[in-house]
Amino acid sequence: MVVMSKTIFITRMIPDVAIRMLQGRGYTVDSNPYDRVLSKRELIKALQKKPYDAVLSLLTDKLDAEVFDAAPSVRLYANYATGFDNIDLEEAKKRGITVTNAPTDMSSETVAEHTVAMMLTVMCRFIEADTFMRKGKYKGWAPLQFMGTTVRGKTFALVGVGQIGAKAARLAKGLGMEIVYTDVVRSESLEQELGATYYASIDALLPVADVVSLHVPLLETTKHLINDARLRCMKPSAFLLNTARGPVIDEHALLRALKEKRIAGAALDVFEFEPVPVRGLTKLPNVLLTPHIASASVESRDAMATIAAQNIIAFFEGQELPTKVAA
Ligand code: GLV
Repeated sequence: MVVMSKTIFITRMIPDVAIRMLQGRGYTVDSNPYDRVLSKRELIKALQKKPYDAVLSLLTDKLDAEVFDAAPSVRLYANYATGFDNIDLEEAKKRGITVTNAPTDMSSETVAEHTVAMMLTVMCRFIEADTFMRKGKYKGWAPLQFMGTTVRGKTFALVGVGQIGAKAARLAKGLGMEIVYTDVVRSESLEQELGATYYASIDALLPVADVVSLHVPLLETTKHLINDARLRCMKPSAFLLNTARGPVIDEHALLRALKEKRIAGAALDVFEFEPVPVRGLTKLPNVLLTPHIASASVESRDAMATIAAQNIIAFFEGQELPTKVAA
């Protein structure tokens, strides 16, 4: 078979495995030389340097009509992320541009692990206790010091049970939690496997939850899914976890709920106005913040790089795309 040479642009440094795979097929690979997000103007300029055939993009690249128009030779955007809310799919479809994402078994497991690690950290008050130690404040054991919340026997409520949600549910079940969930599609297999209970609406789910964990994509219908009214449905002892997308929560409403002690705490890996949390959030001791790293294990990021490269290779070799979003 004659492999036609292709030219690929990678919008930011990612694990080498993808570059090796693409170069191994004889493709030319150029990448953003800086370890930072390119502004839209810089991205357009970079894409106009050559007639690129495909772009390996990141969730921090806003890919819309302006970018597509500036790079008419690009037939494929292979997004290095599970989410693809950074891409205007309608515009891509209009132009016959293909879009793929990068969900993998490894990355969904890693995000699920991060979710549970955040839950334990915030419920066991690890950050407050660690800060206390580092400041030299520990003067001896005390019965009422840093009392947290035991997870065993508590109710873990998932909003969304796709790959990541289902894996988080399994881990929570392993910790002895009761699993309840809501989703647009009922998962009878999860109900059988974990004894999970389905709730037809989020409004019915929230009042029974000790921990609410969000695992939905960002869509028009999921923006501010957790708003002031819904936060008021949660127990004052409940915790909220978000490893999905920031705008799923109205972050100002969350700040108010936390300040007024209407919920017990929150652990957030993603933010409504990324990269900056709303002012005041970093001051609260019962909030754990991580910088959008839920999938950032070496194993997971290698798997994501591999699937992104596989999508590009499959596209140009006329094979079925492993994880197609739109064509
Ligand atoms: C990360 O947020 C991803 O969508 O992979």
